[in-house]
Amino acid sequence: MKVLVTGAAGFIGSTLCEKLTENNIHCVGIDKLTNYYDVSLKRSNLKSLKSNDKFSFHESDVMSEKTIGEIKNADVIFHLSAQPGVFKSWGKDFQIYVRENIEVTQFILEILKDYPEKRLVFASSSSVYGKTNTYPMREDNILRPISPYGLTKLACERLLDLYNISYGLKYLSLRFFTVFGPRQRADMAFHKFFRSVIKNEPINIYGNGEQIRDFTYVAAVVDFLYKLIDNDKWNYEVNVGGGASISVNEVLKMIFEITGKRTKVNYIADQKGDMKKTLADISLARDEFNYSPEFLLFEGLKKEWEWIQTIYKVDR
Ligand SMILES: NC(=O)c1ccc[n+]([C@@H]2O[C@H](COP(=O)([O-])OP(=O)(O)OC[C@H]3O[C@@H](n4cnc5c(N)ncnc54)[C@H](O)[C@@H]3O)[C@@H](O)[C@H]2O)c1
Repeated sequence: MKVLVTGAAGFIGSTLCEKLTENNIHCVGIDKLTNYYDVSLKRSNLKSLKSNDKFSFHESDVMSEKTIGEIKNADVIFHLSAQPGVFKSWGKDFQIYVRENIEVTQFILEILKDYPEKRLVFASSSSVYGKTNTYPMREDNILRPISPYGLTKLACERLLDLYNISYGLKYLSLRFFTVFGPRQRADMAFHKFFRSVIKNEPINIYGNGEQIRDFTYVAAVVDFLYKLIDNDKWNYEVNVGGGASISVNEVLKMIFEITGKRTKVNYIADQKGDMKKTLADISLARDEFNYSPEFLLFEGLKKEWEWIQTIYKVDR
């Protein structure tokens, strides 16, 4: 079994590569270490993998001549590379989102169209739902993204479907719901909250903090991805959520409890593109793919806090 992971230096990608290699699966990782957030965090995500003989790494753009051979060689491709984040996707940066999300995905699909036996697992997002019709969000809800980022993820989902129709591509589009845990991206809320606590700086919360989120612990996500290696069900869009939801203010209380410290909290203007409520209906993942996440919010936050202290070098 040959496995390729794009975005291998990122939060979810590096955690997945570790899970695969721990289970004796050789994997090839590709990442160009974009500067969307601090590159030293990505290098540190790769540290133990780089000395692992079951892991090979190419520091490269996915969309390059050099990667074509790796894409053709793989049986399963976990396509996790992207320009993530909702807030920065407005304005002139939109072209980065179009390139990194839509064009890179289309590049992979053009290679795969001659190899219908290969399988592509795509990292989609709860952002495709946007202003949707019902909660919890089911895969067949109306998809009405409210951010340019969400729109690029929806475009990718549609591309996968059309390569399936025209070329028999086998795919899964996994709609991740706010993933957290060790290595969480530096632009994501919990990471920023913990960092502010460490630096004794104010925490900025968009809106009134009563926005509700379905938070998914990263180990549940990579366990699910790992099981897909032997999966025989393809061509679905699937929610990958934590199975319960909670407000940002409630999470903040937990963060103060875990760190044993409080800092000032500023409530600042809402950001355009921020969904007020996300909650995944995970019955498709549970019934068809044997996905059974535990709701590990407090425990997962503790693990993230342990990791944050190591990267920001705090004396305990
Ligand atoms: N973390 C979440 O909560 C979440 C939620 C929904 C969807 N997702 C999606 O899951 C995937 C992984 O997210 P993450 O949080 O680990 O993000 P991340 O930014 O930590 O990882 C993505 C990696 O892709 C790399 N990359 C970007 N463009 C590239 C290119 N053209 N060639 C090579 N490498 C490239 C980046 O350098 C980065 O290391 C992304 O597709 C993201 O949109 C994440």
